[in-house]
Order: sequence, then structure tokens, then C-alpha cells
Amino acid sequence: MGVREKLHIGMSLAPTWLGGDAWRRPDSEIEQVYSSGFALDIAKRSEAAKLDFVFRPDSLFLNVGALESGPGFGSLDPTILLAAIARETSHIGLLTTVSTTFFPPYVVARQLQSLNWISGGRAGWNIVTALDGNENFGLSEMPSAKERYERAAEFTEIVRRLWDSYPAEALELDRASGRYTNASMVRPIDHEGRHLKVKGPLNLPAYGEDRIPLVQAGASPEGRDFAASVADAIFASTPDREAAAELRQDLRRRAEGHGRRAEDIRLMPGLSLYLAESREEAVELFNATHARMDVARKFASILEMTGLDLRDWPQQQRITTSDLPPVPEKLRSRTHAELLRRLIRRDEPTVADLLTRPEVIGSAHWQIVGTVDDAVAEIMDWQSAGAIDGFIAVPGGSVASMRLVLDEVVPRLAEAGRFRTDYSGRTFLGHLQA
Ligand SMILES: Cc1cc2nc3c(=O)[nH]c(=O)nc-3n(C[C@H](O)[C@H](O)[C@H](O)COP(=O)(O)O)c2cc1C
Repeated sequence: MGVREKLHIGMSLAPTWLGGDAWRRPDSEIEQVYSSGFALDIAKRSEAAKLDFVFRPDSLFLNVGALESGPGFGSLDPTILLAAIARETSHIGLLTTVSTTFFPPYVVARQLQSLNWISGGRAGWNIVTALDGNENFGLSEMPSAKERYERAAEFTEIVRRLWDSYPAEALELDRASGRYTNASMVRPIDHEGRHLKVKGPLNLPAYGEDRIPLVQAGASPEGRDFAASVADAIFASTPDREAAAELRQDLRRRAEGHGRRAEDIRLMPGLSLYLAESREEAVELFNATHARMDVARKFASILEMTGLDLRDWPQQQRITTSDLPPVPEKLRSRTHAELLRRLIRRDEPTVADLLTRPEVIGSAHWQIVGTVDDAVAEIMDWQSAGAIDGFIAVPGGSVASMRLVLDEVVPRLAEAGRFRTDYSGRTFLGHLQA
């Protein structure tokens, strides 16, 4: 099933390792979290480890209810932050997140191409259809997932055409003849579609020869199909190896259906790592991080995703397939809802057990709680089984846990021949295609 010899690895700059109660640790440097230096330090460490890219997720709303105990999705604008990082790094890819539901595509095309110039060809776009924030953009209701994907496909097509509308080769800058641009190569796109109308051309030439890589997040049937049609990679939630293998195989098949090669789409699940010197310490770290996690919020999230109200259930009662109500009509993320239903169908967990699972507390990400050896062995196992093309590290628990990923796990994977020992190119696309 097409095992990839070398992994692709990205590092999340959203400080997941300060999530839960981890920000309260003395060494968390939480006071610096809104400064560019904070993210720059991690980006430099990630570049020293030769990672493909650093990545910033994003949302466009503030969860005021969560602010007493955490950032509630408050963060710097990801593209502006990555522009600052671009000036201080030289090789690592810079993957920003921009929603196709709220912004005008002309602005997005220009911002991404600007980041590409500022970084010398290292920009990447994580395409999201977004989960919330509609009221900040004049929409009283969130458009349905289907409508959001329809708009996303049209939006992405426009952005790609805008990037092509002023090709790099058009820029001549010929002092002798006085010709600045070969203007005949610069063309409007004259797009008029169901959702958007854009004339073009973009007011900025493309940078260099490599195109800007596209990543997509969202794995409902429409999300998979959209990713398989245009994206170089998908950022996914795959809590177990079978879920990853199934998704990867499906994406590869769908890519071929769109006339692409199976290997053109890469599955890169989020990988949450709680690492320590011993397994016992790692479990302690995990438990300490989640000690204050609000049970009411967990129940509310299970209710939103499945329609199941577990508040009055005894902790030791098992939840079975027959307890599952029909799939709710309004879902923020069908991907996460389906992963939770799948877990209940497969494991029939007790209420107490369900409340500790990544599907409830960790965005349904693949999770390793253990030692560096455990992490290296499990990553190599998933890779050998053809379940992944790489991963995006979303370390948890503490700064020390995050550092172990960059200082020990990644070098060990490189030593084992599963990851690059040095960069062979300087562009983001170059890293993905190496
Ligand atoms: C792993 C993963 C990461 C995501 N990251 C973001 C994000 O950073 N910002 C955002 O607005 N939406 C994010 N989303 C939401 C998706 O863009 C999408 O709107 C949502 O999953 C609904 O699509 P679906 O029906 O395919 O699940 C993410 C979804 C997944 C599965």
C-alpha cells in the first residue's frame, strides 16, 4: 500500500505543550506566548531538526467561557507571525492556516504570495472551512459543511489561478530595454462562480518556480474528496492505526480518481506526545495536565458530537452502539463526530473511560504517552504498516516533553533512516517532494 521511505514531519507552533494546566509550570514562559520570540525559538529548533515545516492552526473567534483557565483560542494572526519567523530562518516550510469561509480570495492569494516572497519560497496554505466565528463576519449562522466545501473548492481554484495570473517569468526587469514586465503574460482570471466573483490579475508576481503547497484539514467524505483533488497533504485526526490506514488508502484512491498520482496526497495526522524519562512519569504528566479539565465541557462536547447526554449516567456504565442516537443534523465537525461514534461502536467504553480518550479531550489526535523509545517504535510501526506519510507533532504536557520530540525523537528517526538528516532544497514544496 505504498510505504513511504522517509517521513514528512511538521511541528505545531500552537503551544499545545502549554495546554490544560501545563502553562502553570514554572518553566512554561507563558508570559511570552503572544511575542514573536516565543514561536521563533521553536521554529529555530525545528529547523535544526530538519523538519519539513512549522505550522500554525487558527480560528477567528474567542471562547470567552474558557478564558479563566486558558487562552480560549486567542492567538496572533498566523500569517503575520510566520512572516516574522521567515526573516530569522532559512529552510523550514511555513504553513499558515486561512479559512475559505470568511475571507476574500484576492486578499488570501496576496497574503500567501507575500509570505512566499518574504520567506524565499517557503509558504504553505492549510485550507480550513472553519468551525466557528461566523458572527464575526456578518453571518448569523455557520453555512453547512457541504456549502463550506463547495465554496472552499471555488475559493481555492481562484487563489491558484490568481497566483498563475502574474507568473514569475513575466517579470523581466531588463535595464537595457527598459522593459519591467512582459505584460502580455499577465492575464485577468475573470472568475464568476456560484459563490465568488474575482477579475484579477493578482497585483504581485509569483515567487520562483515552485508552487505554494496546499494542506487541508477536515475528513468527512466531502473533505476527503476536496483534499484528494488539490492538496499535497491532509492534516488529520486519526486516533488509531486502522483509522489512519483507512484514511490514507481512501485518499490515495480518490487522488487517482482525480487524475493525480496516489503519492501526491500525503496523510499527516496530528500526533500528541506526552513524553518523559519513564512511562510512569509520562502518565503522571498526562494526568497532571488534564487534572482541572472541566467535566461539564466534556459532557457538552459529547452531546454536541453524538446527541448523547451522559451527565446522569453512572461512571462505570458502558455505552453501547444501541445507545447512540441518529447522527445530529448540525455538527461543527463531522470528522470528529464520526471518530467519537466509531470509538463507541468499537470499544463500548464506560463513561469514565470515554472521558479520558483523545476523541473527547484531544481533538481525536493520535496520542503517545510514554518514553522516547515508545514514541520512536510506534511511529516506525505506523509508517511500516503504510498508515502514514508523516505527522504533525502537537506535543503536550510541558516544555520538556516538547523538547524531547525535537531533540530526541526526530534525531532517532533520522538515525534509523526514516527521516532526512539534512535539507536537500530550500523550498517547502521541495521538502515535500524530496
Ligand atoms: C485535524 C483537523 C484540524 C483542523 N484545524 C482547523 C483550524 O486550525 N482552524 C479551523 O478553523 N478549522 C479547523 N478544522 C476544521 C475543518 O476545517 C472543517 O471545517 C471541519 O472539520 C468540518 O469539516 P468536516 O465536515 O470534513 O469534518 C480542523 C479539522 C480537523 C479534522
